[in-house]
Amino acid sequence: MNSLVEKINKLKQEKNAVILAHCYQNVEVDEVADFVGDSLYLSRKAKETDADIIVFAGVSFMAETAKLLSPNKKVLLPRLEAGCFMANMINVESLREFRAMHKGIPAVCYVNSTADIKAECDVCCTSSNAIDVVKNLGSDEVLFLPDTYLGKWVESQLKGKVKVHTYNGFCPTHLRLRAEDVKKSRLEHPNSKILAHPECHHTVSELADFVGSTKEIMEYVRKTNFSEYTIATEKGVFDRLQRDYKNKTFYLLSEKLVCQNMKWNTLDDIYNSLLREEHEITLDEETSQKAMACINKMFEITQPVLVK
Ligand code: 13P
Ligand code: SF4
Repeated sequence: MNSLVEKINKLKQEKNAVILAHCYQNVEVDEVADFVGDSLYLSRKAKETDADIIVFAGVSFMAETAKLLSPNKKVLLPRLEAGCFMANMINVESLREFRAMHKGIPAVCYVNSTADIKAECDVCCTSSNAIDVVKNLGSDEVLFLPDTYLGKWVESQLKGKVKVHTYNGFCPTHLRLRAEDVKKSRLEHPNSKILAHPECHHTVSELADFVGSTKEIMEYVRKTNFSEYTIATEKGVFDRLQRDYKNKTFYLLSEKLVCQNMKWNTLDDIYNSLLREEHEITLDEETSQKAMACINKMFEITQPVLVK
């Protein structure tokens, strides 16, 4: 066994730590991760754990969410550089301007946002539960931020029942895909099912066979028996599917589907982070309480999912 993996596992035991890894991480991270999954799954795991330390192999908003859900635990982000381009596209000032333009309409924020943005919104959502959150909120109109494409996708799935006003943020990784890439891929692999993340541009999602969160994409592959799948989300999902389903063929829709921020964390960084107990996530009390209310509202209005 890789000695670095052994060293990390030993440290985990000594310090009563868990490692949570998003499925866009470098695939080697899975060797030390206790749980690997999408944002919703990992936030539930952060809430449940009785570990003293959580090392979050992901990006900063995910580690912040873990801290909000487990305020008494030490939450570490292996690399401080691991931010999220989309989350950084909105700040409190621009959020307030957006809300002022649509007075009285509840604001739904995607979990891909900082704690101070969550603190000013009514309810949070992830890509797995965004449709249910917007539907269950019971309002004819909602504000959705920061991702315009996820917001518009939710609106289309609710078939005009809710008017969704979207902020103009986006994910640069998913926006690298064009409808032409999908059309080209169809010609090259006519029997392959194209699976896209709702952060993609709507012209891409409209051409896909299935649109869902990272977890839903992985579940689709698990539950279906097609022989070929084309993955239209970050490469980490493709890498894990290739590793886990040797009898199926996978194509990555574009080599450009790499989120540089998600790829910061290496096994070395995870080891150093746990050894030195750095870089710890800290949040001020007032922001935490308000952001927590926004996240709790999400859990309140959505069905509890069985966490494995
Ligand atoms: P999931 O909610 O599907 O895990 O996606 C997170 C993300 O950052 C997608 O870009
Ligand atoms: Fe943020 Fe996009 Fe990277 Fe997800 S893939 S972490 S939304 S920049």
